Amino acid sequence: MKGLILSGGTGSRLRPLTFTNAKQLIPVANKPVLFRVIESMRDAGITDIGIVVGSTAEKIKDAVGRGGRWDVNIAYIPQDAPLGLAHAVKISQDFIGDDRFVMFLGDNVIQGGISPLISQFAGSDWNSQIVLTRIEDPRQYGVAELGDDGRIIRLVEKPKNPPSDLALVGIYMFDQNIFKAVNAITPSWRGELEITDAIQWLVQNEYAVHPYIHRGWWIDTGKREDMLDANDLVLEELDYEIEGYVDRDSQVGRRVTVQRGAEIINSVVRGPAIIGENTRIVNSYIGPFTSIDHDCLVENSEIEHSMVLENSVIKDIDARIQDSLIGRNVSITCSPIRPKAHKLMLGDNSQVGIL
Ligand code: G1P
Repeated sequence: MKGLILSGGTGSRLRPLTFTNAKQLIPVANKPVLFRVIESMRDAGITDIGIVVGSTAEKIKDAVGRGGRWDVNIAYIPQDAPLGLAHAVKISQDFIGDDRFVMFLGDNVIQGGISPLISQFAGSDWNSQIVLTRIEDPRQYGVAELGDDGRIIRLVEKPKNPPSDLALVGIYMFDQNIFKAVNAITPSWRGELEITDAIQWLVQNEYAVHPYIHRGWWIDTGKREDMLDANDLVLEELDYEIEGYVDRDSQVGRRVTVQRGAEIINSVVRGPAIIGENTRIVNSYIGPFTSIDHDCLVENSEIEHSMVLENSVIKDIDARIQDSLIGRNVSITCSPIRPKAHKLMLGDNSQVGIL
């Protein structure tokens, strides 16, 4: 089997972070979502992976390289415009060749990896396998209607009146017949070739499409709240490890990871939390569900349920920082110079909540 990861898109709902970075590279528990996707394919035994890239291609290539770090081979497939998931499949035909393949959206995080699903599909003669999960309001997703016997009756993309609460998760498995389907369909109202329509074409033409119902969590990390949710869930599942230095005046909870070269000085860190490589936490409180990425400094401050990305500084802040997503190279400090006021330099589309 081969792997195909879709990593285009502009990440407009995650601005300003996505003005300078690809959304798939935003780290969840200090590791980019895209790296988690590559690892889950590798863990399922897939070594040939194609990544479909768009306007953020260079950022993705710089971060991922040729895949040696994971012992996989990575090829890049450029998509000139975001014309849909089925379009991404179409342009990947040369890369896929005669293989069966799994396609995974590069900004999705799913509990438990995908190894069992892959081996189930690899050992079957199904033409496709799709992953569904129950969602209270599935109107912004593809939705499946199943018969009493559990077979798929139909699939619809973003229906106004969903026929069920079963949403299509961003993981799909296909054989060669999907190329017939993507060539047969036409663009949807949003101008995209929808993968949901292509799978519906398979169903209609009596190919075997097997539904798998996923019961763990699944997050499509489109917005700040989703990122924080994904971070919470991944932090809860991490194997905790103290590789850095914790001084005797600090209290570090059981579910805390302190990565290499990090230092915790006279501070309290309550888990689940992760402190990145070479980051310093000094005279501070780091509360549950917080990720501080590498090379940061948190001094004389309190922060909880937040994500802080690389090279950022939080210093001498009186009010606790909470529910925040703080980008790379950010500096939040208390200025000693009068007048006593908030002095801000924020990127376009920033959001700040001040008491
Ligand atoms: C896409 C698919 C949709 C699926 C969703 C999962 O939606 O079209 O069927 O449920 O991914 O994340 P999009 O992100 O393009 O709106």
